[in-house]
Amino acid sequence: MSAGQAALSASPATAAGPGFVEFNEVEKSYDGRTFAVTRMNLAVARGEFLTLLGPSGSGKTTTLNMLAGFERPTHGTITLEGQPVDRLPPYERNIGMVFQNYALFPHMSVADNVGFPLSVRQVSKADIAARVARALDMVRLNQFSDRRPAQLSGGQQQRVALARAWCSSHAWC
Ligand SMILES: Nc1ncnc2c1ncn2[C@@H]1O[C@H](COP(=O)(O)OP(=O)(O)OP(=O)(O)O)[C@@H](O)[C@H]1O
Ligand SMILES: [Mg+2]
Repeated sequence: MSAGQAALSASPATAAGPGFVEFNEVEKSYDGRTFAVTRMNLAVARGEFLTLLGPSGSGKTTTLNMLAGFERPTHGTITLEGQPVDRLPPYERNIGMVFQNYALFPHMSVADNVGFPLSVRQVSKADIAARVARALDMVRLNQFSDRRPAQLSGGQQQRVALARAWCSSHAWC
């Protein structure tokens, strides 16, 4: 989790006994220093409808990715019907997931994605850098300018796409 933002964390919800899905003290760090999810304790009953609500970058998708098996928890255990799933690959978990996607260029940095519409219009490098910085400032992503899209949350990717769209269509950008 980036500096200044709180990592997702939840309270135990175990009053009704063991859940169909359980998170026990689950934590996730991508870089070994900051945490996208901290001390997640959650019990979800079979048939229960649960919504995760939180600010962009607070760890919602990371939580779902750990449940589906696309990311491994740094600490803690996830169980499905009482069985730990830590060692199960995604295709053995029987979980479906709809992904967030904003058609960013995956091999380009955030800054290069945002500046792309300007570079194809032959704007000078100095101008592009200044305009990209301004656009990233607007969507509060300056600190992520060197990252690739896959290293961002879904909402952060959405904001990169927004900044890129601004650079495509607005003279100020
Ligand atoms: N692959 C990755 N490598 C490094 N950091 C990552 C990676 N994926 C996500 N992060 C960081 O982890 C934090 C949590 O991201 P996550 O995708 O779980 O957020 P989210 O709650 O789903 O946000 P949103 O509402 O924007 O989709 C963010 O700060 C994000 O930049
Ligand atoms: Mg997300």
